[in-house]
Amino acid sequence: MAQGEKQQHPSGDNRFKLLDRAITKHQARGDALIEVLHVAQGIFGYLENDLLIYVARALKLPLSRVYGVATFYHFFNLKPNGEHTFVLCMGTACYVKGAEHIQTALEEHHQCKFGQTTKDNKVSFITARCVGSCGLAPVAVLDDAVVGKLNPEESIKRVEQLKNTPREVLA
Ligand code: FES
Repeated sequence: MAQGEKQQHPSGDNRFKLLDRAITKHQARGDALIEVLHVAQGIFGYLENDLLIYVARALKLPLSRVYGVATFYHFFNLKPNGEHTFVLCMGTACYVKGAEHIQTALEEHHQCKFGQTTKDNKVSFITARCVGSCGLAPVAVLDDAVVGKLNPEESIKRVEQLKNTPREVLA
């Protein structure tokens, strides 16, 4: 890939655009790996394989190095524990539109704090910074689907649906 050429993620997921911005800010320098991984985790909630590959390509680093750093530092999460993920955006637009109320309602309803997984291992609740869909605030990413204009009641309903959906149905 030529210098300065932007890779585009085939999923069209807006969150990769935000990650690209951070990579550009650091001029795609390999020594910015930890900062870029921090941003990636902030946007996506955790660092799955696809994301590590994307970062490795963008920074022109061997995947083994990126994987090594991501596994070495305890503050990086490579996988949520739960069968499903509910990533709540706590960026400014979502926060202003009530993301905090969604967080409180879900924590009370499921007796599970964000950053943790429900006791039945069904859903991991994760917070993220802006996920790139501010116009739909407040937003959450349920597994791979962005859901906007949420409120506490709707969020509780969505999580119940998620819990009752086998992971492979969503794949
Ligand atoms: S602040 Fe939530 S999508 Fe931008």
